Amino acid sequence: MTAPLLDVHNLVVRYKPRGLFAAAAKPAVDRVSLSLPAGSTLGVVGESGSGKSSLLRAVLRLVPVESGSITLDGQDWLAAHGPALRRARHSIGFVAQNPFLSLSPRLTIAQILAEPLLARGDKPGAAMQDRIAVLLSRCGLPPDFLPRRARELSGGQAQRVAIARALALSPRLLVLDEPTSALDVSVQAQILNLLMDLKADFGLSMLFVTHNLKVVAHIADQLMVMRQGSVVESGATERIMSAAEQLYTQELMGFGRRAQKSAPTS
Ligand SMILES: Nc1ncnc2c1ncn2[C@@H]1O[C@H](COP(=O)(O)OP(=O)(O)O)[C@@H](O)[C@H]1O
Ligand SMILES: [Mg+2]
Repeated sequence: MTAPLLDVHNLVVRYKPRGLFAAAAKPAVDRVSLSLPAGSTLGVVGESGSGKSSLLRAVLRLVPVESGSITLDGQDWLAAHGPALRRARHSIGFVAQNPFLSLSPRLTIAQILAEPLLARGDKPGAAMQDRIAVLLSRCGLPPDFLPRRARELSGGQAQRVAIARALALSPRLLVLDEPTSALDVSVQAQILNLLMDLKADFGLSMLFVTHNLKVVAHIADQLMVMRQGSVVESGATERIMSAAEQLYTQELMGFGRRAQKSAPTS
């Protein structure tokens, strides 16, 4: 068996309590373990406040980790520092919920897509322009979008640009935090289809966070259900969708106690 691309073991993330007399905060992520094989998608689901974003922030090395380990492509990811950390970050692409907040309104789409390449030290020029146009087209937008600005785009178009930017440095892992939650339902499906195509084309691995179990069930090979910082259930998507063990998971599917009462028998 090949080693997983991402391996998280007993991860604990705890934010500092605010205020002088605040009690020690309980962990936002409480001994979470997961294993993501290369080319696979893990859906992380849970109600608001269950620690999904904190888990992603730890994987992106944006918050301090209290204990536990993260191994990325066989390397101790928590030990990476300075320039090595910056370089290794290129192997992770990140897509946030709201593209209008994550894309600079001052820049053109071409400038937005060039940014990560320039930051890596690539030279501006025809090769870079080509690469940017190919990226954008691979995400479903023609080159006439390049001179436009994010605020001129629809939510779905802007999220396509955000995904193209996340892929600019050819990451092996794409980390997405509620990437379709701000979009209309019809547009959500288009973005999910795009992500599935990209996954197949590039052999991408994905960590896909959402509060909506139905959204992620289409795209994820494995599911991990979180509540109050802990994993309550995890396994193959098919198994969880057909026979969730936890009532909490059933409630996330809309088949919880309350829903069951009024659900027609079939
Ligand atoms: N920057 C922060 N400072 C302090 N507490 C935070 C911070 N971010 C999140 N939390 C707390 O951590 C817990 C998990 O939050 P979060 O990871 O955002 O959950 P989710 O993404 O599942 O909604 C919540 O109790 C939240 O209030
Ligand atoms: Mg969140």
